[in-house]
Amino acid sequence: MLLTVSDLHVSVENKPILRGLSLRVKSGEVHAVMGPNGSGKSTLAYAFLGHPAYTSRGKIVLNKKDISHLSTEDRAKAGLFLALQSPIAIPGVTVTNLLRAALGDNKNPSHNPILARRFVGSLPVEEFMKAVKEYAKQLHIDESFLSRGIHDGFSGGEKKKIEMLQALVLKPKFAIFDEIDTGLDVDALRIVARGIGMLSQKGTGIIIITHYQRILKYLKPDVVHILVSGKIVKTGNAELAKKIEDNGYTQFSV
Ligand SMILES: Nc1ncnc2c1ncn2[C@@H]1O[C@H](COP(=O)(O)OP(=O)(O)O)[C@@H](O)[C@H]1O
Ligand SMILES: [Mg+2]
Repeated sequence: MLLTVSDLHVSVENKPILRGLSLRVKSGEVHAVMGPNGSGKSTLAYAFLGHPAYTSRGKIVLNKKDISHLSTEDRAKAGLFLALQSPIAIPGVTVTNLLRAALGDNKNPSHNPILARRFVGSLPVEEFMKAVKEYAKQLHIDESFLSRGIHDGFSGGEKKKIEMLQALVLKPKFAIFDEIDTGLDVDALRIVARGIGMLSQKGTGIIIITHYQRILKYLKPDVVHILVSGKIVKTGNAELAKKIEDNGYTQFSV
């Protein structure tokens, strides 16, 4: 399966941010998009999911389906997942509730509304809860977080782990992680990197957006793209990320 972006131009409040960006990600691949602050990384993440404040031109195709004009919800249903750089709290909606709602009751085997409540998607509730708790354990998330309002009062590191948990439970076709490494201590960084590795092994195509190569020490990307001033100025393998560490971004002129 493929996710392709062709000649993407994105502007916000009439200010051009992305200026002709193309990408091609296969299932199970890990791509890193690296760039200095303000280069347009989060704009790219928002454009993928169709943020209404961002005006896009160009094509985004997921598994042969053009999703460029779909709503955010329909893009998510088509299999795209975005972990936000700064996730917002939703007091009153627990982590478990959000996941249950996201998995939805489509494919629900029961047409009886009372029995239907015992399923999450095609999974009986007990199995769904078991899977969520198992992933939480692997990510070192205390079970008590699952019944708290999502991101409500969570620390930076806890938020990032909860984003990772959602990706693992939802198993999207393609996932974008916007600075999932920012603000994490070394232990959390390792745990999140392992989570992303697990996800890619299950076949999810991954785009990691970052400005450090810190996380890439724990997770070897197949492809590295350098984004400067809204354009990909260089694409290469994991070695390219090392060059950034040594010499910064100024070596890549626009
Ligand atoms: N809603 C907005 N209104 C005005 N300018 C914006 C908005 N969102 C982003 N920008 C500008 O677009 C540029 C790229 O931002 P962003 O995509 O957040 O960069 P990065 O994630 O690489 O740090 C910056 O110059 C930023 O100020
Ligand atoms: Mg950003």
